[in-house]
Amino acid sequence: MMMEKKTRTIQHITWFLWFVVVLFVWACIATASLAASSVANPGCLETCGDIIVPYPFGIEDPKCAKNKSFLLVCNRSTNPPKLYIGENIFVYNISVENSTATTGIDAAFRCYNETGLKWQFDQQITLLNGPLTFSNSRNKFTSLGCDNLAFMNDANGGFGGGCFSLCSYNESSPPDDGSCSGVGCCQTQIPKHLKTLNITLGKISSNNISDNSVSNISCVYAFLTDPTLFNTSTIDLHIDPSIDNRYPSPPVVLDWVVGKEKCEASEGPSGYACGDTGTLCSYSDNGRGYRCSCQEGYIGNPYLRQGCQDINECEDPSTYPCEGTCKNTPGNYTCICPLVMRGDGKVACRGVRLIVIVTVLGAIISFVISILLIFILYKRRRQEKNFIKHGGLVLQNQRVRIFKEEELIKVTNNYGHLLGQGGFGSVYRGVLADDTHIAVKKPRGLDKTDLNQQFQHEICIISQVNHKNVVKLLGLCLHTDIPLLVYEFISNGTLFEHIHKTKSSFLRSWKNCLRIAEETASALNYLHSSADPPIIHRDVKSSNILLDDHHTAKVSDFGASVLIPLGQNGLAIAVQGTLGYLDPEYLTTGNLTAKSDVYSFGVLLVELLTGQNPCTFTRFGERSNLIQYFVSSLQNENLLQILNVEAIDRIEREQILEVAKLIVNCLNSCGEKRPPMMEVAEVLAKLMRVSHESLLVQYNSEDTESLTSDLPFHGLEFENATSHMGCQLSEFHLSETPLILNQVDSSIDL
Ligand SMILES: *[C@@H]1O[C@H](CO)[C@@H](O)[C@H](O)[C@H]1NC(C)=O
Ligand SMILES: *[C@@H]1O[C@H](CO)[C@@H](O)[C@H](O)[C@H]1NC(C)=O
Ligand SMILES: *[C@@H]1O[C@H](CO)[C@@H](O)[C@H](O)[C@H]1NC(C)=O
Ligand SMILES: *[C@@H]1O[C@H](CO)[C@@H](O)[C@H](O)[C@H]1NC(C)=O
Ligand SMILES: *[C@@H]1O[C@H](CO)[C@@H](O)[C@H](O)[C@H]1NC(C)=O
Ligand SMILES: *[C@@H]1O[C@H](CO)[C@@H](O)[C@H](O)[C@H]1NC(C)=O
Ligand SMILES: *[C@@H]1O[C@H](CO)[C@@H](O)[C@H](O)[C@H]1NC(C)=O
Ligand SMILES: *[C@@H]1O[C@H](CO)[C@@H](O)[C@H](O)[C@H]1NC(C)=O
Ligand SMILES: *[C@@H]1O[C@H](CO)[C@@H](O)[C@H](O)[C@H]1NC(C)=O
Ligand SMILES: *[C@@H]1O[C@H](CO)[C@@H](O)[C@H](O)[C@H]1NC(C)=O
Ligand SMILES: *[C@@H]1O[C@H](CO)[C@@H](O)[C@H](O)[C@H]1NC(C)=O
Repeated sequence: MMMEKKTRTIQHITWFLWFVVVLFVWACIATASLAASSVANPGCLETCGDIIVPYPFGIEDPKCAKNKSFLLVCNRSTNPPKLYIGENIFVYNISVENSTATTGIDAAFRCYNETGLKWQFDQQITLLNGPLTFSNSRNKFTSLGCDNLAFMNDANGGFGGGCFSLCSYNESSPPDDGSCSGVGCCQTQIPKHLKTLNITLGKISSNNISDNSVSNISCVYAFLTDPTLFNTSTIDLHIDPSIDNRYPSPPVVLDWVVGKEKCEASEGPSGYACGDTGTLCSYSDNGRGYRCSCQEGYIGNPYLRQGCQDINECEDPSTYPCEGTCKNTPGNYTCICPLVMRGDGKVACRGVRLIVIVTVLGAIISFVISILLIFILYKRRRQEKNFIKHGGLVLQNQRVRIFKEEELIKVTNNYGHLLGQGGFGSVYRGVLADDTHIAVKKPRGLDKTDLNQQFQHEICIISQVNHKNVVKLLGLCLHTDIPLLVYEFISNGTLFEHIHKTKSSFLRSWKNCLRIAEETASALNYLHSSADPPIIHRDVKSSNILLDDHHTAKVSDFGASVLIPLGQNGLAIAVQGTLGYLDPEYLTTGNLTAKSDVYSFGVLLVELLTGQNPCTFTRFGERSNLIQYFVSSLQNENLLQILNVEAIDRIEREQILEVAKLIVNCLNSCGEKRPPMMEVAEVLAKLMRVSHESLLVQYNSEDTESLTSDLPFHGLEFENATSHMGCQLSEFHLSETPLILNQVDSSIDL
């Protein structure tokens, strides 16, 4: 129980403390806001009814006014309460801004009844020695009414002046438009520094006014007023003002000043009258003293110590426009346009800043240029690297032409005309500027490490090979990742196609066959004996023998070729070649010699003579049996029956038999027993010479025939995958790039 009570007490105390804190905070806020917005001295009433009483004026308490002269009287017994200066000057409003007070002062008047003057009121106004002066700029001395002589002077007679107003005889009142245009109304200036004013009224005419009057009573008035604030037509001259106290009190503007001397001059203990911050001091041209005002950018009552407050312009965008980021500063504000915009935020933020556009454009352009430069440099560098890597520096000095990558792209029409495709890569046709037709071989890049020194050397050697029966390597392109090879374009396709696909009739002529055999042998012999170091072709087969327009044989595809180092006649190297043509000795021992080409050439001759493909299944059964079959048919002397060629006479038959014997020698399974290529070439050349005359005749007639036959247009050695279905497994490929041993090892079907 005790515990519960204690907790409750603590709770109550807590609530109470909270309440106190909230109250305190509220009080602070209220005081702060009051202080900020107040125009009166702190702690003083600032209104009398609807009328605001700003400092230096004050009501009730003398402390609320700057001095006694500023102390006003608020009569709250009337409704609404009325504010007075002294006893009889009624105050409409006070303006700190204009240093004016708008007051109401009763007009002086004279009223007449039928019999004559009924009564007269002459006004004496005294502002004493206080801070107030009649405003000479705003007020006019006004005489209103017909036959009115209004006289004004100051109390001590230092100044005198007046105004008189008359009407036509017919009229007893001025025109009713309040314009005070002269008829029945007169207005005149008053002098500066006027603090007292006596107004006396009189008559000019001796006529009885009421004689022409339409009414029983008529009055004339004289008063001081600000004509912009007062319409004279609101005074009815035919109403007796004494009835219901309807004395007119036109508004009179009084100027007021503070201090006595200069702006800086000390004024007793209160000192300088203007506030501490944001105030300006100016001299009044009416009244001795000065005025205070708030500087531009400040608002408030400049006569209070902290009266002028900085205007937070950013909170009032309708008065202080800002399109950008608004920032208040003492007495002013800044307006910064959004980052990319230009212009003065106070007026308008327009478009995009020029500097931004220039910067962005510049950045984009330099970026693009950099990328392009990097790309171009990279490409150049890469081309250069490839060029060097592929031995360009060595090859440059060779006879072979070095092509630029761009040049080849151009002449091949961006590799548009595909001549063929195979395991080695692709071959494209192109035409050089000098009208030379070329075949561009684009090897399939398998492994860049293939491109070693030996390969370069090989290209180097082949480029030097200059034999009429060897396809000429016109040039190279070394700038690419994989070097491109440019060959002369051989128009008439491969021997393989002529034998097996088109079964061209010119091959039935022994003389043509002999010539092709002789040409091929001559080329191989050249490679074996005249080239230095000797070159073993390693892939002699019908599809690597190209025929030109005149059916001249051209040996091609040195992709598998190897160089025999000087002083050696063989080379232990991984087995590569095309089964069917492949030397069985080389296949088993892996030792490559020039005699391997001799064997392959033998197979080629068998193929040429029989028209059978050594690497497909034939009517002879197993493909390997073609050789045996050929050999046995020679032994059985029924060779001529299995041949595709036709011997036209005895000489030719003898020649065929002689060549067949040569073939059998070439096909000897023991390499050493095969004749060297030189011997083969010599035998064939000798046979050629024997029948040269008749061969020419034959050739010409055959040539015409062959031209009429529909031969496919082919270029280099190029293998159509489908044409060698049966050979697929047994063919090892033939890319121009050096052999990948693993690949060959794994794919060979031993
Ligand atoms: C206030 O006004 C009333 C009525 O006009 C008058 O009787 C009274 O004397 C005035 N009081 C002061 C203090 O002037
Ligand atoms: C001050 O009072 C006069 C007379 O009633 C009036 O015309 C004028 O508009 C007032 N001025 C202000 C700022 O209220
Ligand atoms: C200050 O004087 C100007 C010009 O005479 C007037 O338009 C404006 O209303 C006056 N302000 C006050 C508060 O009387
Ligand atoms: C003006 O009126 C009075 C009284 O009616 C009369 O005695 C006097 O003669 C009149 N004056 C003139 C000039 O008519
Ligand atoms: C006119 O006023 C005077 C002065 O007050 C008065 O004696 C006289 O009787 C008045 N005449 C009329 C007709 O009311
Ligand atoms: C102005 O009026 C006051 C008060 O009635 C008077 O004492 C003074 O002599 C008058 N001054 C003049 C020059 O009429
Ligand atoms: C005065 O009134 C009469 C008649 O009412 C008129 O004929 C005459 O023109 C008027 N005079 C003037 C100056 O208006
Ligand atoms: C004065 O008031 C009258 C009607 O009350 C009006 O017709 C006239 O235009 C006003 N004059 C001015 C200057 O405002
Ligand atoms: C004018 O005087 C007559 C008689 O003297 C009276 O009947 C009438 O009401 C008066 N008119 C005005 C406006 O006072
Ligand atoms: C009050 O101050 C004003 C201006 O500073 C001055 O003209 C006036 O004489 C002073 N009144 C008194 C009673 O000190
Ligand atoms: C505020 O600053 C602008 C320039 O930014 C200047 O033109 C203007 O006069 C300044 N206003 C005040 C009240 O200082």
